[in-house]
Amino acid sequence: MATIDVMISADEISNRLDALAEEVAAALPPEARTSPVLMIGPLKGAVMVMADLARALHRAGVDTVMDFIGLSSYGAGTVSKGTVTMTSDLSIEVAGRHVLLVDDIVDTGRTLHFAQAHIAARGPASLRTLVVLDKPERRVVEVPVEHVGFTIPDVFVIGYGTDLDQRYRELPYVGLFRPDSDS
Ligand code: PRP
Repeated sequence: MATIDVMISADEISNRLDALAEEVAAALPPEARTSPVLMIGPLKGAVMVMADLARALHRAGVDTVMDFIGLSSYGAGTVSKGTVTMTSDLSIEVAGRHVLLVDDIVDTGRTLHFAQAHIAARGPASLRTLVVLDKPERRVVEVPVEHVGFTIPDVFVIGYGTDLDQRYRELPYVGLFRPDSDS
């Protein structure tokens, strides 16, 4: 059995999301209050933060609607393939809306770069980006990220949406995966 050490606890994530929701609320122009903010999450890693952040934004007085885009940049294992593939497109009109792009982690930046270009091409009123985890040491493509939960070093993390071969997304915390020395 591998070992998982808690790096960022569920309580720390929850508290940080509440603070980020207040940040997002404060950054919205007054006219953005007249219609719900469109949250967009790249599948599948964004699922956990989308749900929790939508509730945090509700507590902060911000109405939201959600959409998802299927993007994949990793094959099996832990190494990026370097290209982003769209597996399913958005289903809600972006034009004229205030958009919040949300993801679990920004690593090389390729996924957010692709998503930001895809959204920007559809004419949003504004576009801001929020991630739970930022690994700046790994960046290949510079992308604007206005709201960052936690800046972390270049270590392999799992949980809270991040995965290892599709597993461990459901962990309520961010953990450090330590494989057995004999595996
Ligand atoms: C993960 C994660 C981010 C992306 C970050 O998604 O959810 O979207 O990688 O890496 P990057 O900054 O190097 O692009 P992945 O493509 O593994 O798909 P998943 O969300 O289904 O895990």
